[in-house]
Amino acid sequence: MAEFKEAPADAPLGVKFMTWVDNRFPATKLWNEHAAQYYAPKNFNFWYFFGSLALLVLVIQIVTGIFLVMNYKPDAALAFASVEYIMRDVSWGWLVRYMHSTGASAFFVVVYLHMFRGLLYGSYRKPRELVWIFGCLIFLCLMAEAFMGYLLPWGQMSYWGAQVIINLFSAIPFIGPELAIWIRGDYVVGDATLNRFFSFHVIAVPLVLLGLVVAHLIALHEVGSNNPDGIEIKAKKDPRTGHPLDGIPFHPYYTVHDIMGVSVFLMAFTAILFFAPEVGGYFLEANNFIPADPLKTPPHIAPVWYFTPFYSMLRATTSTMVNVLSIVVGLAGLLGLVKAQGGGKIFSIVGAVILVGLLQTFEAKFWGVVVMGGAVVILFFLPWLDRSPVKSIRYRPDWHKYVYAVFVLYFLVLGYLGIQPPSETFTLISQVGTLFYFGFFLLMPWWSQLGTPKPVPERVTFHAH
Ligand code: HEM
Repeated sequence: MAEFKEAPADAPLGVKFMTWVDNRFPATKLWNEHAAQYYAPKNFNFWYFFGSLALLVLVIQIVTGIFLVMNYKPDAALAFASVEYIMRDVSWGWLVRYMHSTGASAFFVVVYLHMFRGLLYGSYRKPRELVWIFGCLIFLCLMAEAFMGYLLPWGQMSYWGAQVIINLFSAIPFIGPELAIWIRGDYVVGDATLNRFFSFHVIAVPLVLLGLVVAHLIALHEVGSNNPDGIEIKAKKDPRTGHPLDGIPFHPYYTVHDIMGVSVFLMAFTAILFFAPEVGGYFLEANNFIPADPLKTPPHIAPVWYFTPFYSMLRATTSTMVNVLSIVVGLAGLLGLVKAQGGGKIFSIVGAVILVGLLQTFEAKFWGVVVMGGAVVILFFLPWLDRSPVKSIRYRPDWHKYVYAVFVLYFLVLGYLGIQPPSETFTLISQVGTLFYFGFFLLMPWWSQLGTPKPVPERVTFHAH
């Protein structure tokens, strides 16, 4: 136990109060460690706004969620009408509901940009692997949270979207059909499904999410933030103070800096809220203003935009695609046989034979689910896939930028195609996109080492503005 401190008798009341608190709870210590004496690199740029914006959206979602729950009814017979009641009769209910629905999309916009920043500057690399892994877990939770929340208004899209996605689980060999019933709690999506999704959406997942966000920030503050140059500022410290020479205290410098990001974000957020809350059907789909009807399947079922890149990959996995994948795996096995040494030769060819056997044994729908899940799971391995000698894109060979650009482009194209009704051409484009997505990650240990990196400066580059 730390020793009790005494405030001087003539100290202001505030100081006396804080001394009393600090003797019992490390309030000042925590504030200093995480804000006033947390030294962050002085060269943060635009991309560094999105972490604090993600925190802001998290708070918006929790606060508006609390108010929604006051009037929402988690009952298949009442849910749709209760949301309409919130929209029409509850004072400010429309605002709270639109804040929550817009917040869901805003969360993904902010988090996708936040993750992309990590990719740009190699923020997932040593020593920040756990920061990244907690981030990936947060991303998984967010997806679960959004998926379950979407069922709650009990509109046509809520109902049929959940039906389609839960049915995917039935494609899992042996246990699939039973698993799907277990998740639904019924043979079709119904009241039991709504009740459990409500319970997970309002308490279980947010609790885990909050815990993960805390872990994410503790891990980050343990190792310190990366920056656009990908240089470790802790390597150059002021011998007198012991603080990084290129670091500035997070508070007040970045707390004030972040206010600018928050202001611009709130302008865009409120513009959507007040002028186009449905965003042409992208944030709130027209079909979801029709009550769920288990007897009437909508002609075109598509998930909300933030799931569509992954949904496209699912749809791209046709039986032809499985055959293409088998050929790719076979070729990789042969390459391993030629290039690998000793035991590696046997490992690669036996591995390839087993994988091709499995690919050909189970139906394409199952592999679609594997591909869709794999597209998220692969992110966890990024810290070990990237072998570039430098962290930041700034000092990588120029052509790496084009690889990243094509990756982003394909991700956007996959997102767009996931909303469109399927067609032969679109499926073909999604298949190429899916191959590129996985190629980008799986071949990263090879391509990230290619080319000559530019010299990395000793100190961060910073131009006052
Ligand atoms: C609720 C969601 C999230 C919240 C509230 C959040 C919050 C934050 C905050 C406040 C920071 C420090 C400020 C900044 O660097 O922007 C940060 C850094 C970071 N986050 Fe997140 N984050 C979230 C999701 C994610 C996800 C999904 C990933 C990746 C999969 C991720 C990866 C990172 C990384 C790698 C850093 C360190 C960046 C650097 O130092 O360059 N975060 N996060």
